[in-house]
Amino acid sequence: MPILVKEQQFHLQTAHTSYIFHVMENGELGQLYYGPRLHDQPAFPELTAREEHGAMPAWRLDHPDVQPETLKQEFASLGKGDYRDPAFQITGEDGSRISEFRYQNARVIAGKQRLEDLPATFDDSADDAQTLVITLADAVTGLTLALSYAVFPHQDVIVRSAKFTNHGRATVKLDRALSLQLDLPDANYDLLQFSGSWARERHLIRRRLRSGIQSVGSLRGASSHQQNPFIALARPDTNEDQGAALGLNLVYSGNFLDQVEVDAFGTARVLTGINPTEFGWQLAVGQSFQTPEAVLSYTDRGLNQLSQQMGAFYQQHLVTPRFAQRPRPVLINNWEGTYFNFDEEKLLAIAREAQRLGIEMFVLDDGWFGHRDDDTTSLGDWDVYAAKLPNGIAHLANQIHGLGLQFGLWFEPEMISLDSDLYRAHPDWTVGAPHREMTPGRNQFVLDMANPVVVDYLYDKMSHLIEDARLDYIKWDMNRNITEAFSQTLPANRQEEFAHRYMLGVYRLYARLTAAYPDVLFESCASGGGRFDLGMMAYAPQAWTSDDTDAVERLRIQFGTSYGYPLAMMGAHVSAVPNDQTGRITPLATRAAVAYFGDLGYELDVTACSTAEKAAIKAQVAFYKAHRDLFQQGTFYRLDSPFTGDKNVGSWQVVSADGRRAVAARYQILNQPNPAYNRLYLRGLLPNQRYQVAGDDHVYFGDELMHAGLLVPNLLTTTQGVDASADFSARVFVIAAVD
Ligand code: GLA
Repeated sequence: MPILVKEQQFHLQTAHTSYIFHVMENGELGQLYYGPRLHDQPAFPELTAREEHGAMPAWRLDHPDVQPETLKQEFASLGKGDYRDPAFQITGEDGSRISEFRYQNARVIAGKQRLEDLPATFDDSADDAQTLVITLADAVTGLTLALSYAVFPHQDVIVRSAKFTNHGRATVKLDRALSLQLDLPDANYDLLQFSGSWARERHLIRRRLRSGIQSVGSLRGASSHQQNPFIALARPDTNEDQGAALGLNLVYSGNFLDQVEVDAFGTARVLTGINPTEFGWQLAVGQSFQTPEAVLSYTDRGLNQLSQQMGAFYQQHLVTPRFAQRPRPVLINNWEGTYFNFDEEKLLAIAREAQRLGIEMFVLDDGWFGHRDDDTTSLGDWDVYAAKLPNGIAHLANQIHGLGLQFGLWFEPEMISLDSDLYRAHPDWTVGAPHREMTPGRNQFVLDMANPVVVDYLYDKMSHLIEDARLDYIKWDMNRNITEAFSQTLPANRQEEFAHRYMLGVYRLYARLTAAYPDVLFESCASGGGRFDLGMMAYAPQAWTSDDTDAVERLRIQFGTSYGYPLAMMGAHVSAVPNDQTGRITPLATRAAVAYFGDLGYELDVTACSTAEKAAIKAQVAFYKAHRDLFQQGTFYRLDSPFTGDKNVGSWQVVSADGRRAVAARYQILNQPNPAYNRLYLRGLLPNQRYQVAGDDHVYFGDELMHAGLLVPNLLTTTQGVDASADFSARVFVIAAVD
């Protein structure tokens, strides 16, 4: 029984955690505990005991000990004596911004229902999930607030969201409606955030919590390259293998806010949800507003465990079940190979060569539609560019399919070029404020996804191509952020709703396409990893991790991304050198050794490769296929971090569910003369099992590989192979049980 309801105390239990809250004297909810699992008790006097503090606002004259400022609250408002940032704020008809949501009732529901208009977690597998819904009501406005807690016992995950419904007599305005608040009793944590920019996404930053507010967020209309909705709070001594850590993510792809406020009493209030800046919502009588879901998880067994349990949770309860376990194809994408410069013969030549190398899918990237020869035209005109492909997309697709390859196509549905038939016909479908110049981004503008007519247009265009070309895959790109946020379809007092309504339109299009064409694999993309989040993952099981395909940069990007997302979500491609983003020349073997740890692809003109390079690629593809189940579904461990120490080494590992097979890799950025002894300590093996490491005659026990480690020999300056270099080296270790 994961949800224990006693009187007015709620105890959510998972395999290893407890989350406890209760109804306070004033009818509002108070947070009591989140951490390692506790025995249930009728009451927790140690958790409800209070200090009385000086001359602080109290809830009522007859309750001087209920001082909101000193309480750990469950979902707090501002204006009644708690001065911390609130979870929500409502402006009533009379302009008052005070609310008092009092407890009404609690319901426990079996399983976990999806949400109507938003991507959401689910429990199709009867995984014992239960959902607790607490309803509270505000007497003055007539609003109810339903707080939902879905408890997934096996992965130690709790999914929360809030829903406001107006049962009153007048429209109110939601000024802020976050998804989760968690008041922790102390602030002795490090905040782990994943920050960067285009081509440098999700680098780990770890810092101590300090008094005051610290936050990450986005106001770009997308979750962004710059900050990611995933954060973790870890005790200062927590590392990859031990220690307490709490992970938090939002199932949302638009403007978000993750915030931690440390107050005068050393408590830490965690908030996450839609960014209140650029948000407002008119809630008319009879209407509801549902927030996105927030995913919360806790472990006292280190950051690897946190990533593993959250990653496993997404695979089972967020990713479309059809794709969660299905092997993802090794693909070739023509973008870095040809950019806009291709014709049918060129594409077929690449596809034929790719097929000989064992690659399974051909993806045609940007430039196939309208009259698009560069990035200044044609977005919105999703019809074939006859000058490049005179026989049409279906003809090309037939030939690709005839080679035994799957066929995928690039779209950027949410965008419009001024030089397009679509813009000439429907300038009012473009996002832009009246009497203001529109700000270009990558020479393009944004379609008003808050307008249902735009969603219908895109659905018709895309579904036609899916059927005509029998598409197996779509890369859905989004290459600029929003400016002049304004929809011509919304009245003046609803313009603040635009950013969220835009996301609802994007999700609507995704939901319609994935429902109508359930076998099409979607890969999300936003100039690389500019929308790498759980909202996208609910529809697109994989995402293009970064436009940066340089092996060294990718090591950092994929390492950082792995804290919050499983390898199966990370598109990872081998491209040509010198690398187009960094100019760096890394060995082909190193590029592959990084790209193995994700959904492998190639993004180069394979027809231009030497015979030796082709042989190497063929062997890489075969190697990946042989271990694909590990790379895409195995348990992932970070071993050595490229974000700490001398930042010269990174290593990681995947292990099969039964612990009998593993692949580990160690990357060294610059070679060093006379180096220290380097050892690689493996994880997740069976201590009493014998193993062999490919290329090594010795038979090891699992305990030896984990605790004594493997010696990584010094790399001499004379390396062999097609691209000799001692810098940017990688070693891959294949470990298999022997009986
Ligand atoms: C973005 C994507 C790339 C590629 C180009 C095409 O930058 O991230 O992978 O598709 O657009 O214009």
